[in-house]
Amino acid sequence: MHLLKHILGLLFLLPTLLARTISIIDYLSTNPALSSLHPAMSQPVGFPEAFSQIPPNNFTFFAPNNPAFAHLSKNLKRHYTSSSRSGRAKLGNMLMHHYVPVDAYRRDSGVLCTDPFSRIHSGIFLFMGVKKVDGVCVINRRVKVVEGNIPVTGGLLHIVDGVLDPAGMFFDDEYVAPKIKQGYMAGRKLSY
Ligand SMILES: *[C@@H]1O[C@H](CO)[C@@H](O)[C@H](O)[C@H]1NC(C)=O
Repeated sequence: MHLLKHILGLLFLLPTLLARTISIIDYLSTNPALSSLHPAMSQPVGFPEAFSQIPPNNFTFFAPNNPAFAHLSKNLKRHYTSSSRSGRAKLGNMLMHHYVPVDAYRRDSGVLCTDPFSRIHSGIFLFMGVKKVDGVCVINRRVKVVEGNIPVTGGLLHIVDGVLDPAGMFFDDEYVAPKIKQGYMAGRKLSY
């Protein structure tokens, strides 16, 4: 009788468990391939709170895997792994390049894998370069999407094999590359 009660209890709990939301931080904590990114996302002030919530907007997030962090140059490692205030600020600035608000772009949406080389806005004012090379989405001419379209609540996560460093973003002379039509432009007023 006791056991039956427990089983019934679990059955009633099931819809709640299934309806559970998964934030970016929730997902990072469950995937061992992202165990370097997970603590990095907790360093910059405000990040743990922001990325463990479900935002009102949709989003696309590029998640650098462990080799991405391991292969950082010595100089970047020094910047991004220091727990000093300026280290955390630089890390936060770098991580914001991985977040594209408003739209959840699938890997095969024609936004992330384009031909020719195109540019899309990230969460900050700079653009990132996107191109499909031999069937693989390549960001900033160097970073490859190794696993795409991972659903989290409100967005999609793409695992990438390199960090999107601000220095790899677009600068003046590349602005001739076609710009992908996006609902979002950094600095524009959003509709919500
Ligand atoms: C998020 O995307 C879904 C699916 O495309 C859409 O139905 C929904 O309106 C979007 N939400 C916002 C806040 O834009």
